[in-house]
Amino acid sequence: MLEAAALPTEGVPSTLQDFFVAQDTDGIVGAIGLERYARAALLRSAVVEPRARGIGVGETLVHRALEHAHQGGVDSVYLLTTTAEQYFPRFGFIPIPREEVPAEVKESVEFRSACPASATVMRKMFETR
Ligand SMILES: CC(C)(COP(=O)(O)OP(=O)(O)OC[C@H]1O[C@@H](n2cnc3c(N)ncnc32)[C@H](O)[C@@H]1OP(=O)(O)O)[C@@H](O)C(=O)NCCC(=O)NCCS
Repeated sequence: MLEAAALPTEGVPSTLQDFFVAQDTDGIVGAIGLERYARAALLRSAVVEPRARGIGVGETLVHRALEHAHQGGVDSVYLLTTTAEQYFPRFGFIPIPREEVPAEVKESVEFRSACPASATVMRKMFETR
C-alpha cells in the first residue's frame, strides 16, 4: 500500500511495532505508523486504499496513533508530508520550520533520506497533563 501511494518504506520496522492497520471484510484497507523518540514521535506511513478513502478510515487511524502516542508519554508528534498538508490540520497539526524538530526525530530515516527536503514539516503538541 505504501509503495502504491508513493510513500517511503525505508525505516518501517520489520516487527511493525507501533504500526496500526484498518481492515474490512475484504482485508487490510489502511495503515499508519509511529516512530518513538523519547518524548517525541514521528507519525508516518498514513495510507488508505483508494477504494476505502473518504469514509473516515484515515481519521480513525490518525486518532488511534495519536492516542497511542499520548498514552505512551509523548508530548509532541511530528510528520513530514508532500501530499497531505491540508489533511492534518484537522487533527491539530500545524506547519513548523525544520529547525524546531528535535535532533532525535531529525535523525530518523524518513527525515534523513526518505522524504524530500521540500516536504512540509508539521507538529501536534498534546496539552500538558
Ligand atoms: C491521506 C489519506 C490517508 C486520508 O485517508 P482517508 O481515509 O481518505 O481520509 P478520511 O476519510 O479520514 O478523510 C476524508 C477527508 O479528508 C480529505 N483528504 C483526504 N486526503 C487528503 C489530502 N491528501 N489532502 C487534503 N485533504 C485530504 C478528503 O477530501 C475528505 O474531506 P472532507 O472530510 O471535507 O470530505 C488517504 O487519502 C491516502 O492514503 N492518501 C495517499 C497517501 C498519503 O498521501 N498519505 C499521507 C502521507 S503524510
